[in-house]
Amino acid sequence: MRDGFKLVVCDDADSASEVVSNEIGLLIREKPEAVLGLATGGTPVATYEKLAESHRLGECDFSKTVTFNLDEYLGLAPTHSQSFRFFMERQLFDHINVAPANTHVPNGLTDDVAAECQRYENLIRDHGGIEMQLLGLGHNGHIAFNEPGSPKESRTRQVDLTGETIENNARFFDSIGDVPRHALTMGIGTILESKRIILLATGDGKRDAVQKMVRGPMTSDHPASFLQTHPDVMIVLDREAAGDLK
Ligand code: PGA
Repeated sequence: MRDGFKLVVCDDADSASEVVSNEIGLLIREKPEAVLGLATGGTPVATYEKLAESHRLGECDFSKTVTFNLDEYLGLAPTHSQSFRFFMERQLFDHINVAPANTHVPNGLTDDVAAECQRYENLIRDHGGIEMQLLGLGHNGHIAFNEPGSPKESRTRQVDLTGETIENNARFFDSIGDVPRHALTMGIGTILESKRIILLATGDGKRDAVQKMVRGPMTSDHPASFLQTHPDVMIVLDREAAGDLK
């Protein structure tokens, strides 16, 4: 195991989500103005519920917090029910006191992709970089929408989604034909510049991707393996995703 990896194996997905929400809550209490990197997908939903609950209990004040999401589908309006902007509002932002102007998601409706990607990179830099980035893990080893083949140095850009990712995400849409084929995503290089990374993966479907991330060679074929180069990555797993990892 790489020095930068801290592995936490929990009994189940709920306690894994609790660990992640506690880490984020701790950061916000210590540094209310922290810049948080956020993720979408099925995995972080319970974490967001717990953060919303902790805000409701008066334990977490997000009024100074700034957030940057990893990615967005190209062509979906922020009001589209499957856009990541909409997801974030429903799952988290509507339930905490983060200022809407402090929440950033790439603009999926841009008509100038290169300018939008540069704007996003500049905005992250102007905020002093991301303090803590939350990540999920794709079955194919993707992080954000950095699909296999993504270079380690990649920056925020337009990407084509793989057939596997489109199939996986079809569960959120009326039909597979409605899943966008392209997205804007922070690059692997962008993600690796975050000061701290927390990756959450649960369920036995992620076991193989977890193994390759922590034990496999560092390769574009499995983009999460590039996290091995980062000095501060907490990997939070349930027992099913962990397999024989302790
Ligand atoms: P999931 O997606 O949380 O819906 O499994 C993870 C990812 O693709 O990063």
